Amino acid sequence: MAALTALTKSLGYHCAKRSKISTFSQNFPSHNPRFQTLRTLILEPSLSESVKLNRLSDYDSGIVEVNLDRPEAKNAIGKEMLSGLRHAFEAVDRDSSARVVMISSSVPKVFCAGADLKERKKMTAAEVHSFVNYLRSTFSLIEELQIPTIAVIEGAALGGGLEMALSCDLRIWENALLGLPETGLAIIPGAGGTQRLPRLVGKSIAKDIIFTGRRMGGRDAMSMGLVNYCVPAGEAHPKALEIAREINQKGPIAIRMAKRAINEGIDREMVSALDLEEECYEQTLNTKDRLEGLAAFAEKRKPIYTGE
Ligand code: COA
Repeated sequence: MAALTALTKSLGYHCAKRSKISTFSQNFPSHNPRFQTLRTLILEPSLSESVKLNRLSDYDSGIVEVNLDRPEAKNAIGKEMLSGLRHAFEAVDRDSSARVVMISSSVPKVFCAGADLKERKKMTAAEVHSFVNYLRSTFSLIEELQIPTIAVIEGAALGGGLEMALSCDLRIWENALLGLPETGLAIIPGAGGTQRLPRLVGKSIAKDIIFTGRRMGGRDAMSMGLVNYCVPAGEAHPKALEIAREINQKGPIAIRMAKRAINEGIDREMVSALDLEEECYEQTLNTKDRLEGLAAFAEKRKPIYTGE
């Protein structure tokens, strides 16, 4: 952990670049009033070569994209990338203007190949222990973000890559390889996989996936409820953006409270869970947005929510 912290502190800032969503940003900076009606991308200073934090702007303001970009290792997560992920999600957590996050990859045919097995080979058992704990807590940070998270799975998501997707609220998938191959490496999924997978697909299916380490494709992932949407090749990113936009138009406090009620309520018995729902509903009652929703309905127009 100390090594990771030191590494994190020593990394310099640099500007992120993003090709997939929009190339407008590089040519048309958003501060130029001539181009303010175009959807632009705000390039965020990043602490990592391999993790980029991009904030969409204009119409899509409020949508944030964490982009994995380590092509030489198929987005395998080593120390540098883990440090970048941590910083990106901490930044999202601090950002009160963020309303929905997409996690995507700019590496063709790969979402994330899991832990960096080449780096792992050089680590002592104690270093592996620290690394895996930090990875696990980083994925818990993703899960505990107050705003919705969407994994855009355009390619293989294996081991820690699938565990990262499991820590998201929604998974959009284009029939790429999914699997938890850890037992084949004589270890177990250690970044939440043994806990999140059975909660999502049930104990029996999770055991089958983890014990066999099978790589799944085809309709398996969809039929077992591992992913929310299965789309044709090339359509996962547009689909994720479409869903992010739908969420982005809703009352931000309502979305946060709905997420909290579901996440915290699911493990409670019903009476206590309904108390939690009441508590979360209360948070939406005295808001300007609730009144705006009612006014917009009466005036037959779209509501404009400010998160107040
Ligand atoms: N750790 C470190 N390096 C990795 C890696 C990982 N998890 N996954 C891929 N790489 C490296 C490969 O070693 C290769 O490096 P090289 O060019 O120096 O040989 C490079 O990335 C390209 O990988 P390659 O297997 O040729 O790409 P592919 O497109 O044919 O397949 C994957 C992509 C992701 C399906 C495949 O690389 C794979 O199965 N990786 C292992 C995933 C895994 O078991 N993860 C579990 C970790 S617990």
